[in-house]
Amino acid sequence: MKIAIVTGASSGLGREYAKLLDKEGMDEIWLIARREKLLLELAEEINTGTRIFPLDLLSESTAEQIAKILKQEQPDVRFLINAAGFGKIGSEEDIGEIDISRMIDLNCRAAVLMTHLAIPYMGERSHILQICSCSAFQPIPYLNVYAATKSFLLHYSRALAVELSPRGIVVSAVCPYWIKDTEFIPIAQDTKNSTYIKGFPFAGRQAAIAAKSFAAAKQGKTVITPDFMSTLHRFITSILPHQWLMAASKWFHGHGEKA
Ligand SMILES: NC(=O)c1ccc[n+]([C@@H]2O[C@H](COP(=O)([O-])OP(=O)(O)OC[C@H]3O[C@@H](n4cnc5c(N)ncnc54)[C@H](OP(=O)(O)O)[C@@H]3O)[C@@H](O)[C@H]2O)c1
Repeated sequence: MKIAIVTGASSGLGREYAKLLDKEGMDEIWLIARREKLLLELAEEINTGTRIFPLDLLSESTAEQIAKILKQEQPDVRFLINAAGFGKIGSEEDIGEIDISRMIDLNCRAAVLMTHLAIPYMGERSHILQICSCSAFQPIPYLNVYAATKSFLLHYSRALAVELSPRGIVVSAVCPYWIKDTEFIPIAQDTKNSTYIKGFPFAGRQAAIAAKSFAAAKQGKTVITPDFMSTLHRFITSILPHQWLMAASKWFHGHGEKA
């Protein structure tokens, strides 16, 4: 049985990837996120058979459940797309310890664990897409934990791509700039003070970012910047010292009004 697994499928990029996977000839698409109702609505829109997993990736039992079902079904996992993730904008004191640890656990630990569980069921011409962010390319003041989690995921993915290439498994790190029409920005802004980063000029749109990055992943690209701003950011961070870029970013953003 050929399957695709998508985390974060209830909204934003994950939802868009699930729709793109509908045209890939899978026997089943496995949809993972916490909000069952949204997953059921998505399943209605998709012609391919789906299996709904209304699970919290931060719960210890989720990995056990996924491991168990993979062992029972022995599927041929053709795609794993780790899109579940969130960020928080604010200074060190604006983001509480619960959000800090949840960000690290979801963006890093859960993505790595899902990947680790799926790899034994993957083979030639299968794909892993890790949804990172262009914030992975440099340390970012007022987005410090989130950017660091995405940096972790980018480095992990690049190394894994080398390890898995002899088996024909393609690993891609997708690194978009801000996207305006997902739930990400409102969630990121929900902190004690998120006014340090606001406006989001040149932010992209979920359908275009998903389509472009999915096509690039199928072409075998390891690091994907699916829009102009992320491509520019990658270039600038590869030639200028990060110290300068952080100083510029602090000057540009570091005047947050006290909430
Ligand atoms: N939007 C941007 O500006 C932007 C830019 C660069 C990178 N990204 C990355 O793109 C990815 C997708 O984000 P998005 O923009 O599509 O945001 P989104 O609309 O908020 O989607 C996030 C998804 O993650 C799921 N999720 C959150 N916590 C979860 C948990 N504990 N367990 C299971 N699922 C969970 C959410 O579903 P439930 O709430 O139903 O669980 C939702 O489906 C993220 O990794 C994000 O870091 C976003």
